[in-house]
Amino acid sequence: MMQAVLFDLDGVITDTAKYHFQAWKRLASTLGISIDERFNERLKGVSRMDSLKRILEYGGLSNHHFTSIQLEQMAEQKNNDYKQLIQGITPKELLPGISELLTALRSKGIKIALASASKNGPFILERLKIDTFFDSVVDPAKLQKGKPDPEIFLTAAAQLGIDPKECAGIEDSVAGIESILAAGMFAVGVGVPENIGAHFRVASTTELTIDALFSHFKHR
Ligand code: G6P
Ligand code: MG
Repeated sequence: MMQAVLFDLDGVITDTAKYHFQAWKRLASTLGISIDERFNERLKGVSRMDSLKRILEYGGLSNHHFTSIQLEQMAEQKNNDYKQLIQGITPKELLPGISELLTALRSKGIKIALASASKNGPFILERLKIDTFFDSVVDPAKLQKGKPDPEIFLTAAAQLGIDPKECAGIEDSVAGIESILAAGMFAVGVGVPENIGAHFRVASTTELTIDALFSHFKHR
């Protein structure tokens, strides 16, 4: 029986994935590195510092060429740009069907948690005016390992006091689906490739209804 739904944020609840991409693209270009949407798939679900390291590696610059202070400065520059881009987010930027899903889950007494690697998560939930739906929010700063490690989803389940087997996780990234599967949970993928093992795949968040989640969860 599904007792909790654990949400990723960027690309599942709202389309902030595009703002992360814009901010990284700008930072990368100051280093003479050009990144495209295809490469960006490899940054989804990945922490800020790990994303920066992947970009440097992609551009042929070893992160060992930089001091840790320089790396921190670059990550901060990206985050400052990103924060400007998300400053004006309103509830209109909730992806379709998410508001209805949160309301339905709440009315059925299903627990709701946020399992996002983003340190900007709480701010975005407030801007979207959905923070009150969340029974728990994982603090990514306290984790040892990022996605695809299961730690973030297992922490969300533990914070809720729910057995991981009774949890569904919703993700738009390959690293995120791997993390949910490694946690032994029911994995729901939004726009993810076919071959990564998600139990239930949807092309758009409009398909994320409570009925669809319940019926696929049962038939897993
Ligand atoms: C999410 C996004 C990533 C982002 C990470 C950290 O996982 O998918 O693109 O790098 O969060 O976000 P932050 O807001 O802390 O830089
Ligand atoms: Mg995401």
